[in-house]
Amino acid sequence: MPDTPHPDDPPAYFRAHVFVCCNRRPDGHKRGSCAARGSERLRDYMKARAKELGLEGVRVNQAGCLDRCEFGPTLVIYPEGVWYRPETTADVDEILEAHLRQGGRVPRLMLTEKDVVPKG
Ligand code: FES
Repeated sequence: MPDTPHPDDPPAYFRAHVFVCCNRRPDGHKRGSCAARGSERLRDYMKARAKELGLEGVRVNQAGCLDRCEFGPTLVIYPEGVWYRPETTADVDEILEAHLRQGGRVPRLMLTEKDVVPKG
């Protein structure tokens, strides 16, 4: 699939769209789940802080399983397709400020191409 937008595409509706996985599996599930690792609290915090900061064009949404459960809690930001694994509200603050306000990145919290789900 090409990385560049199709010429017929309308402009993006949001400047940045954040999906926070809030899937919950039963305790003891082999893959675990983001909600079991605290993602619901982080989602609530991120939504509230993004609003307080007045970040224009930024939408934070809850998502179902994003299929990188083993690395959760996960979130992904589009259109960049950059994934993060925040563990604390301070981590969320860093993502909001560095990535969503300044257009930078938070490498220490990013998932990379090496973070792949084990097969089987
Ligand atoms: S449970 Fe969050 S990525 Fe699957």
